[in-house]
Amino acid sequence: MNDTWIVRETAFEPQKLHHQETVFTIGNGYLGTRGAFEEGYPGEWRATFIHGIFDDVPIVHTELANCPDWLALTVAVAGERFRLDRGEVLRYERQLDLRHGVLRREVRWRSPAGHTLELHFERFASLADPHLLVVRCRITPLDFDGPIAVQAGLNGYPDNLGVAHWWVLDQGADPQRVWLGVRTRHTGLTVGMAAALRVDDTSSLRCQGLNCDGVPTLVAEWNAQRNVPVTVTKLVTVYTSRDLEPPEKGEGRDGGVVDVAREKLEALLRRAADYDDLLEAHKAAWERVWAVSDIQIEGDDVAQRAVRYNLFQLLIAAPWWDDRVSIPAKTLSGFGYRGHVFWDTDVFILPMFIWTHPDVARHMLLYRYHTLPGARRKAAAEGYPGALYPWESALTGDEVTPRWVPVPDQKELLRIWTGDLELHINADVAYAAWQYWQVTGDDEFMLRYGAEIILDTAVFWGARAEWHPETGRYEIRDVIGPDEYHEHVDNNAFTNGMVRWHLETALQVLDWLEAQHPQQATQLRQRLNLDAPRLARWRDVIAKLYVPHDPQTKRIEQFDGYFRLRDVDLAAYEPRERSMQAILGIEGVQETQVIKQPDVLMLLHLLGDAYDLETLRANWAYYAPRTDHTHGSSLGPAIHAVLACRLGDPETAYEHFMRAALVDLEDTRGNTADGVHAASAGGLWQAVVFGFGGVRLTPHGPVAEPRLPPGWRRLGFRLRYRGKEYSFDLTPEE
Ligand code: IFM
Repeated sequence: MNDTWIVRETAFEPQKLHHQETVFTIGNGYLGTRGAFEEGYPGEWRATFIHGIFDDVPIVHTELANCPDWLALTVAVAGERFRLDRGEVLRYERQLDLRHGVLRREVRWRSPAGHTLELHFERFASLADPHLLVVRCRITPLDFDGPIAVQAGLNGYPDNLGVAHWWVLDQGADPQRVWLGVRTRHTGLTVGMAAALRVDDTSSLRCQGLNCDGVPTLVAEWNAQRNVPVTVTKLVTVYTSRDLEPPEKGEGRDGGVVDVAREKLEALLRRAADYDDLLEAHKAAWERVWAVSDIQIEGDDVAQRAVRYNLFQLLIAAPWWDDRVSIPAKTLSGFGYRGHVFWDTDVFILPMFIWTHPDVARHMLLYRYHTLPGARRKAAAEGYPGALYPWESALTGDEVTPRWVPVPDQKELLRIWTGDLELHINADVAYAAWQYWQVTGDDEFMLRYGAEIILDTAVFWGARAEWHPETGRYEIRDVIGPDEYHEHVDNNAFTNGMVRWHLETALQVLDWLEAQHPQQATQLRQRLNLDAPRLARWRDVIAKLYVPHDPQTKRIEQFDGYFRLRDVDLAAYEPRERSMQAILGIEGVQETQVIKQPDVLMLLHLLGDAYDLETLRANWAYYAPRTDHTHGSSLGPAIHAVLACRLGDPETAYEHFMRAALVDLEDTRGNTADGVHAASAGGLWQAVVFGFGGVRLTPHGPVAEPRLPPGWRRLGFRLRYRGKEYSFDLTPEE
């Protein structure tokens, strides 16, 4: 297979354990499983996260609970368990097959007693059937005949780095199957799993099920013969109470999830569905996805593989089947940010889905629609009408950003202000809904859901913008913009610029509703109190909201007083391993012009059409050198890549692009262990399509104006626009 579809690891390096667990995450949009080893490893961060399975936790409110472990499969030879930290690893290779969503590992291992085994592991989470998980191991003794035992369990006691979330409700075992039902301790969600083990015919095979407390386990033993491979396949089925609402059976305490998982397993066993059939169906599902999603880059294999890897990680976290969940900032691949959803999803990730899999984008926007009640509670709690989306969101739309967090080696807790002040999320969500509508033409979405999202969030802004008679303008004070190095700022250009756009758009949506669907328009106006004075106020805010922009220099001041802050030459701090915030301190960095990520430039990225190229040039020249590119936010580099392309500088764009492309594969920020950088992955798609591809939306559909970086001979991708497919095959300009 073409090597650019494979992510490879050729040696096991224990110091990279957690990083590589993230890199080798597999999933199917229903769940994600980190790349922990089947047999386990000391200190591992073994985890499976299922969309929507949150449980309460102190400080951070709620987190995706690490679900029962389905993956465990241990091999013992003559009583000695195969493990990478014992005996001798003679050969090791791990491959993530991005094209087909399969993770493979080949190990040649000599036990401490001197028995040599060849092991080939393979696992996948079926994209053809979200409730099916499969792991398989082929075991070949190379220099002995003797007993081999395989144990494969379902572990009902996983934890979130020490925090326990589960009660075991139900479990059982017979010689061929095991099953397990668990319930989250606080939210009462249940998960049911069932598993069966298939072993190639061996005349000496003995199987049994052990109903160990919380960890029902299947055991298969046989007398192995030198050079005769035996393959063991573990089939696992999984359901949660979220799949069965209202509970189908309602009998058991688990709401029926174990029964459903067991029935599903029985159906598979009855069908004698063999591994190859299940794998074929899974691969076929991936082929269908890649037929639209793939991006081909000729002339740069490193970029090609990295782009496919980033797309893969988004595709396995995408809610293909569920419109009440969305993609968390760390996907379903790590404990970082606890499975919370940020603006990362709406502004960075969503464009890829809008343009390639609009059905998934719709699910992600419906998630925002279904969480409007939480957003209304947040606005009301702050004394405002309308809806204010939470900075960090989980299942309900209530704010789940922690307010105070402990800091290692410090006695005092640290106050986190983003949940109180990073208000631009409201406009970001509206922007996403609008983009979706522009690209898909899905009027039904706008009518039933999108309009309400855009209008009720606008209601909040209409009230939040304050009239200042002394300056004769509306202002929005005390916020945090995208650049989180500066807190409690007034008139952040990004926020104010997006608010003005948001209110204008809300009026446009209302006009459309009134023209096309007058009855629904009247109902919505009544429900959201969109009376004449309120709309008049919006018009006034649009006309008089302060959005800084110096017509002479074309510069946009990031917030009031930013230009008076101390200017710092970032080059003087190189080489460095830490962020400028870590070096200068939280207060120290606020006194400088160093920024964490694009802020004014982010505004120019989102609302590019409203500003001329000279404005972009002037602000790029000012802000790019003041941005903490390498250690600030991972959200920045891909956006810088798009903008550098717009400025006609694909070389500089490529530097930023590669920073985003390799952030996880090479762990360039040192925190991939916490999970994949999803916003960076989404931004990467934008860098390729909007940046190097130069795609713009015109009244006739998307058109490309390629600006390929040096070395790229061809760039190919597909887009969907208003139900039609557009195929782009771009080459460098002669
Ligand atoms: O949403 C981002 C934010 O912009 C920067 N800090 C991390 C968050 C989650 O990725």
